[in-house]
Amino acid sequence: MTQPDEPRFRRLLVTGGAGFIGSCFVRDRLARRDGTQIVVLDKLTYAGNRANLAPAESDPEEAARLRFVVGDIADPQVVAPLVADVDAVVNFAAESHVDRSILEPVDFLRTDVMGVHVLLEACRTEQARARAGERAAAPRMLQVSTDEVYGSVETGESAEQDRLEPRSPYSAAKAAGELLARSYFVTYGLDVVITRGSNTYGPYHHPEKLIPLFITNAIDDQQLPLYGDGMQRRDWLYVADHAGAIGHVLEHGESGEVYNIPAANERANREVVAALLERLGKPWSLVRRVADRPGHDRRYAMDGAKLAALGWKNTMPFEDGLAATVDWFRTNEAWWRPIKSGEWEDYYRRQYAARLADSRDAE
Ligand code: NAD
Ligand code: TYD
Repeated sequence: MTQPDEPRFRRLLVTGGAGFIGSCFVRDRLARRDGTQIVVLDKLTYAGNRANLAPAESDPEEAARLRFVVGDIADPQVVAPLVADVDAVVNFAAESHVDRSILEPVDFLRTDVMGVHVLLEACRTEQARARAGERAAAPRMLQVSTDEVYGSVETGESAEQDRLEPRSPYSAAKAAGELLARSYFVTYGLDVVITRGSNTYGPYHHPEKLIPLFITNAIDDQQLPLYGDGMQRRDWLYVADHAGAIGHVLEHGESGEVYNIPAANERANREVVAALLERLGKPWSLVRRVADRPGHDRRYAMDGAKLAALGWKNTMPFEDGLAATVDWFRTNEAWWRPIKSGEWEDYYRRQYAARLADSRDAE
């Protein structure tokens, strides 16, 4: 049997590790059985779900290397002692849904900006301790950002040095968070790396987002609210590829650098919806054309040359990933049905009731 590669960072603080991408990162890292120890810090907002870590928590060897702390990244009292005990911080924690940022932006500022600031300050304290010889090295901080910071890209592909032109409260907050992270590299010499991933999909995806919303609604023969003409384009990245690329940048990325994580699977929303309906054997007549999202970005697309040069390659083709995702939601109703209740019903009403009442056939 081959031995797993020796990890560069043995003790990780993974913030937001009970969310969609963070939990995939934690599950996949622990499953390598390379000795990595992980502390997850997660506030367990509506989007956080301890069940996302069940596969790791039910394996005794992995569970012994995992500690779960419920808490807020914007709370310095919680964050400081955790950062003191790790070699790297990987920050997935965020308010992550554009539509919610349009309804209520304030939590996005608190977590996606102030929360990042608190994590950076804790790393800075540890840097001072390292300089005083109280620990071996300052922690590395990886800030998980998004392609949405580039804004809508009508043609071509965004490269890392391009201007940031965020257009929603979500993407503006994410841009602020990553700019702050980079400023700590420039100003204080903190070891910071930043990733900008594209639209991600796969198992454990919260049902508020396009793909899982449409899969779970279609399973129940409910209407599918397609915004505007449905010709907006996204580049769909399978969650294990996104988590793997983040791990690769954590290990190999150059300090102070930003790395795009594209998928090279650009599709119009209509194409994605048609494909998932086909897999489910459900009719297009479920799709309703509804009022568009205000400020809706038409297209995202990124250049991936820099990450490729670092030695990373995605492995999941879109058709296979989408089929696996549809099948996962079909066989894991016990995971998503509880999420689509309680707070969800309120959110769904606010977001979709008037839209669906005014909707028309999507042709
Ligand atoms: P998610 O909403 O599924 O998970 C976010 C997690 O963060 C949840 O577990 C939540 O409980 C936790 N959290 C929220 N506020 C917190 C706080 N103040 N303190 C501690 N924990 C808190 O999000 P996701 O889709 O897994 O995205 C993870 C990261 O990746 C985010 O930073 C997001 O901006 C970024 N990103 C997401 C995508 C995508 O398509 N999903 C694409 C690119 C980048
Ligand atoms: P989403 O999953 O919210 O990701 P993002 O806005 O971060 O790209 O949406 C993906 C695309 O699907 C986006 O163009 C908006 C569209 N969309 C709909 O048409 N209807 C919906 O109900 C949702 C949630 C999204």
